[in-house]
Amino acid sequence: MDLLKRKIETEGRVLSNQVLKVDTFLNHQIDPELMVEIGKEFAQRFKDDKITKVLTIESSGIAPGLMAALELHVPVVFARKRKSLTMVNDLLTASVHSFTKNETNEISVSQKFIEPTDNVLIIDDFLANGQAALGLAEIVEKSGANTAGIGIVIEKSFQDGGQLLRNKGFKVESLAQIASLENGKATFLDEAEV
Ligand code: G4P
Ligand code: NA
Ligand code: NA
Repeated sequence: MDLLKRKIETEGRVLSNQVLKVDTFLNHQIDPELMVEIGKEFAQRFKDDKITKVLTIESSGIAPGLMAALELHVPVVFARKRKSLTMVNDLLTASVHSFTKNETNEISVSQKFIEPTDNVLIIDDFLANGQAALGLAEIVEKSGANTAGIGIVIEKSFQDGGQLLRNKGFKVESLAQIASLENGKATFLDEAEV
């Protein structure tokens, strides 16, 4: 997705060979017009997959997840990282280990929001090691529903997550794939010199 890649080039800050900061449009401040375009792109890529629900995870998955759901005309549900006061019964949960933060969190979704008949599109902002997406897919499986695909805004293709998810047979669509963050610069997979 060209618009997104140009945004990463102009506003992204490479913090290390592993980490890209995009807080001006995705992770802190959010660019609504870019989010609309991101939603349209996800809807286009999953238009034949009979999606009935979008599942994402708080907090940074919510904006792109909402816009994808708007374009697909389905509801969006977000997994919580902390249990809410009112969310006590019939929870579907999964443990998600973050290699980046070296911590494991239990994520949860109310069972009533994912039906066994649902065909779910999982959306997240970043794909690094794939643990968040796997946790969401585990929740979908526990609900008896089907994971129809996984949509990612920014995939760091030099980390393991993309391959892990594709090897499991998931349809993974990433709107920007970063091959490298070396030399202080984001190099995209389809624009890398060969
Ligand atoms: P994984 O799910 O792919 O295994 O990822 P990991 O545990 O490494 O990611 C932990 C958190 O860091 C996630 O956000 C993820 O989106 C984010 N993250 C991973 N790599 C990058 C990166 O290069 N740049 C940025 N900006 N974020 C990255 P989170 O803690 O769940 O936060 P949020 O959703 O509330 O923003
Ligand atoms: Na994030
Ligand atoms: Na995220």
